[in-house]
Amino acid sequence: PAERDALKARARQLLAERSAVLVAHYYVDGDLQDLAQETGGCVSDSLEMARFGRDHAAQTLVVAGVRFMGETAKILSPHKRVLMPDLDATCSLDLGCPADDFIAFCDAHPDRTVVVYANTSAAVKARADWMVTSSCALPIVSHLKAQGKKVLWAPDRHLGGYIQRETGADMLMWNGACIVHDEFKGLELELLRREHPRAKVLVHPESPASVVAQADVVGSTARLLKAVIEEDATEFIVATDRGMFHRMHQAAPGKVLLEAPTAGNSATCKSCAHCPWMAMNGLQGLVDCLEHGVGEIHVEEPIRTQALGCIERMLDFTA
Ligand code: 13P
Ligand code: SF4
Repeated sequence: PAERDALKARARQLLAERSAVLVAHYYVDGDLQDLAQETGGCVSDSLEMARFGRDHAAQTLVVAGVRFMGETAKILSPHKRVLMPDLDATCSLDLGCPADDFIAFCDAHPDRTVVVYANTSAAVKARADWMVTSSCALPIVSHLKAQGKKVLWAPDRHLGGYIQRETGADMLMWNGACIVHDEFKGLELELLRREHPRAKVLVHPESPASVVAQADVVGSTARLLKAVIEEDATEFIVATDRGMFHRMHQAAPGKVLLEAPTAGNSATCKSCAHCPWMAMNGLQGLVDCLEHGVGEIHVEEPIRTQALGCIERMLDFTA
């Protein structure tokens, strides 16, 4: 703890000296979330992280999350310096959707509007008409359906399936998944719900359909946090990364939070309920990137300009 406090103090000092702002996702280490909160940065879901980074006056952004979040910040603010505590922090959805294969898939279906999840590379976004996050995918696809558009969706099949069931849109889907949420199990959740009949079930839509079907609330990380604060219940079963519990406990201290069941446990399954890439973000990495400028994100032209369109379309739609 003494070492942690020293690193925190150093990070606080460097953020001030470098006039940098820390933008953190709810899944990263609690210390980083607390630092972001206390130093005037933001802790949020991927949509609000993008908006906050774009709108903040600071010329250096430190993005604590996974690579696509840093890339999105850089695409929106090419003149700002965007740093990350660990540039190797990726995402299984991004890894499972290589740009070349994705572009060939799009080329084979030119009649479809291309909608990609935020969790993709800049090169994939460069080929997309729309980017969405879990907090705005539903209204955006509804909007496209109302315009009579057919959708090509990538890469998360669970989120895509949920949106398809809710909107009835014609969606051709890429077959990707989040290794963390894919592990939540419907049958085991049913058993846990029987033991806790009054618990409300909160589910991130990257989870399988059998889990989403049992949810009282389905939504982005920010939406699930809001539900813990506002829903009339004292007990919740939460199907998302356990990094989220830090903020939930702070925001609703009296409430009981139970992890939704996964097939394995932390001894047998590395990704069960905690993203290994989000976990790469630490205090030491934060200090190092601020102190030595390591971990800087670059997005090459013309990819950056091509990717900007689909992100701005989403931000305008949700403004
Ligand atoms: P949110 O946009 O809901 O924060 O989700 C990002 C993510 O990677 C979830 O696994
Ligand atoms: Fe990607 Fe899943 Fe990690 Fe989110 S939790 S960053 S979707 S691997």
